[in-house]
Amino acid sequence: MKQPISGKPLAPLADGHTGAPPLPLLDKTRRFYPRGRDALFAALTLLGVAPGARVLVPALICDSALAPLRAAGIEPVWIDVREDFSIDVARLEETVARSRPAAALLVRYFGFGCGLAGAVERLRGLGVPVVEDRCHCWVSDAALLGEAAVYSLRKFIPVGDGGMLVVAGGPDRLPPPPSGEGDGHRRADLRFAVRNWAERALFGWGGSNPYAEGTVIGRLRGGGGGAAALDPAVAPRVPSRRLVRYLRSPAVSEAVVRRRRENFDYLATRLAALGIQLPWARCAEDEVPMGLPLIDAGGRLVERLRADGIGAYRWPGEELPPEVEAGGFPCASRLGRRTVVLPIHQDLGPAQLERIAERCAG
Ligand SMILES: Cc1ncc(COP(=O)(O)O)c(C=O)c1O
Repeated sequence: MKQPISGKPLAPLADGHTGAPPLPLLDKTRRFYPRGRDALFAALTLLGVAPGARVLVPALICDSALAPLRAAGIEPVWIDVREDFSIDVARLEETVARSRPAAALLVRYFGFGCGLAGAVERLRGLGVPVVEDRCHCWVSDAALLGEAAVYSLRKFIPVGDGGMLVVAGGPDRLPPPPSGEGDGHRRADLRFAVRNWAERALFGWGGSNPYAEGTVIGRLRGGGGGAAALDPAVAPRVPSRRLVRYLRSPAVSEAVVRRRRENFDYLATRLAALGIQLPWARCAEDEVPMGLPLIDAGGRLVERLRADGIGAYRWPGEELPPEVEAGGFPCASRLGRRTVVLPIHQDLGPAQLERIAERCAG
């Protein structure tokens, strides 16, 4: 039987690691939350965004990321993206003048820059503070462009938590740290262990999908849930022990950065040789891709790959917000239905990447 292809835990964990000093990932300039969406809501709250306010949001996004905002009565104001996944800067002025958002959210899709600098500069000129959504990015100390950045580290390493908030202007602007150790991190570790076991038992590695809200897996992850059940204001938490161990390990960070970039370049080169066009053919020096996106005009690629145990998924696929589905954002709805993300996880090697390329070829 062929081995299924998708991410699996890095091993070993950095328990008792005594080598190089920890990366500056766990210093006082960060706050941790269960999920990226909780960090996002916290970032907006810090910027003074209150119930009833509006936030500018790119129409290409998964709706579950916005659940805390919606539950708090914050209204998204949509702006379409362009074919290259950037925001149309020329449209910003008109959209801001019309809807007067209290803040803007800008996404680095799949870990790529997406021309964010120009959009942030324009928004700053219009007096709109920006939260950078780095939920598709690995942690880096790349300078913040916006007022704050949020992360979702469970998309890179096998942890149950991983929401993280960083703000410009120093730690004084952060919410107060969690008081004491508490037992939140222990619960997070236990929940992850149970969920991981159940996912493997039900689907095996290849079937797992990090964007499975609304499905059995989504419920196991606690990611679904209607707005009514949601308390948007989640306080900062002590991160799970697994997350701390991963973040403290230079070897893990090195593997995430180097292997993902290498895997991306390898697979992108193979796909290009097969004549498959990619939105990003290479990653820049400071980009660590979450996956390898491609545009699937035929619409059947995910099913084909999954039937072969390859953990590809559409993004955001069924998670496109209903307002965007309803029309008016042609580029986001087209990209949202056709963008397929291929795995380039740090534990994959050339043989597995070859198989992915072969299956993409048909
Ligand atoms: C662009 C983007 N932002 C935010 C989030 C929210 O991250 P989390 O699932 O950790 O809440 C997601 C999740 O899928 C996402 O794709």
